[in-house]
Amino acid sequence: MTCALVVPAAGRGERLGAGLPKALVAVAGEPLLVHALRRALGSGVVDVVVVVAPEGEQQRVRELLTPLGVPDLRVVTGGAERQDSVRCGLAVLPEDVDVVLVHDAARCLTPPSVFRSVVEAVRGGGVAVVPVLPVSDTVKRVAAGRVLETVDRRELVAVQTPQGFAPGPLRRAHAAATAAAPATDDAGMLEALGHEVLTVAGDDAAFKVTRPVDLVLAEALLRGGGA
Ligand code: C5P
Repeated sequence: MTCALVVPAAGRGERLGAGLPKALVAVAGEPLLVHALRRALGSGVVDVVVVVAPEGEQQRVRELLTPLGVPDLRVVTGGAERQDSVRCGLAVLPEDVDVVLVHDAARCLTPPSVFRSVVEAVRGGGVAVVPVLPVSDTVKRVAAGRVLETVDRRELVAVQTPQGFAPGPLRRAHAAATAAAPATDDAGMLEALGHEVLTVAGDDAAFKVTRPVDLVLAEALLRGGGA
């Protein structure tokens, strides 16, 4: 049994405004990508790691990750959209994997336990598995500055990564995806093909570093020992 982890880390990070690719932005002295990989490897369930790096950053990524001692590290260059980057990563996976995890470098504090529960759910028969958290805000549908309706939040969850997949359906979903409507997560692409997507418990620490305030939170958690 072999579990491969694909880490899309090729985003430009424009909303973060740090002036370098988001995965390479440092928090508590280390890039987001390094924090993310350390926790993924700490789960003990990851055998192969594919990092999808920003253009021109393959060598830097390899150097950053060398100290982590990844058993089988593959580094490729990403594409224009997240789904293009994941597809680039899938192209270099070994044939014999039974689970593929896709994990955003930007969710750099995701605890090892979440990786374990996603892998366990896939090996238990899930074709697609996502970690989720209840939504705490009230959510409304709006158009042109007016509220159309209030959505019942008891039916809503926020979806995190790592997302776990059986390799065949994930490859087929990426092959079927269109550039016209890029998916914001991989499970959505399997849903579109009619596959059932299972959920496991997510974690508050698995938030995605997107805006400057997220960096402040990540830094505080790391410095305070809370992550
Ligand atoms: O932009 P967003 O925060 O949704 O990106 C989620 C993850 O996807 C990040 O880790 C980012 O580096 C990655 N990404 C990528 N290639 C892109 C865009 C985003 O690998 N073209």
